[in-house]
Amino acid sequence: MIVIDEVQKPVPKDILDTMDRFYNGRPKVLDVACGGRMFYFDKDDPRVFFMDNRRIKTTLCDGRDFEVNPDVIADFTDIPFPDEHFNMVVFDPPHLLKNKEGTPTGYQQIKYGYLLKQNWKEVLSKGFTECFRVLKKNGFLIFKWNETDIKVSEVLALTKENPIFGHKSGKQSKTHWICFMK
Ligand SMILES: C[S@@+](CC[C@H](N)C(=O)[O-])C[C@H]1O[C@@H](n2cnc3c(N)ncnc32)[C@H](O)[C@@H]1O
Repeated sequence: MIVIDEVQKPVPKDILDTMDRFYNGRPKVLDVACGGRMFYFDKDDPRVFFMDNRRIKTTLCDGRDFEVNPDVIADFTDIPFPDEHFNMVVFDPPHLLKNKEGTPTGYQQIKYGYLLKQNWKEVLSKGFTECFRVLKKNGFLIFKWNETDIKVSEVLALTKENPIFGHKSGKQSKTHWICFMK
């Protein structure tokens, strides 16, 4: 049974059609840029609604299969859900900068996508605003960022919300996991 409460704007039909696989018909967590779901223990966790702005299936240069297959294709700068809808939002946007639009090339771009040099601040800033909009009061936003091209401090400056804590990981400590509460 599909239960969508607190709806202030209609949820698109293609989303409603996918809702049957979810926990109690209602996902608690929204991942707005799920990519290949690499960091999930269960890539089909019924508590999580998976969103991305592309769907692809390919073989990477190391011979491994790679798939981005979200529950819905949507843009994190315009999330198709009502306000205050999820207990948790996961925001792991692309972190690599590219000069102009085009087909992603190379292992990293295919796996993680890319941002454009001319508008990355606007895109991430809108992304934060939308993530916090669809998050319930007292809900958590888990943000992941890799500092290869842009410092985490520059990215955190794009939201007025204050994180609670963070953790660095990776061989060069370039990956940051940051937790916000609304
Ligand atoms: C760093 S990857 C996510 C990796 C993922 N967390 C995992 O566990 O594998 C970023 C993803 O954001 C997606 N993306 C880029 N721009 C987007 C947008 N405007 N809206 C939604 N997804 C977007 C890319 O297609 C890419 O799959």
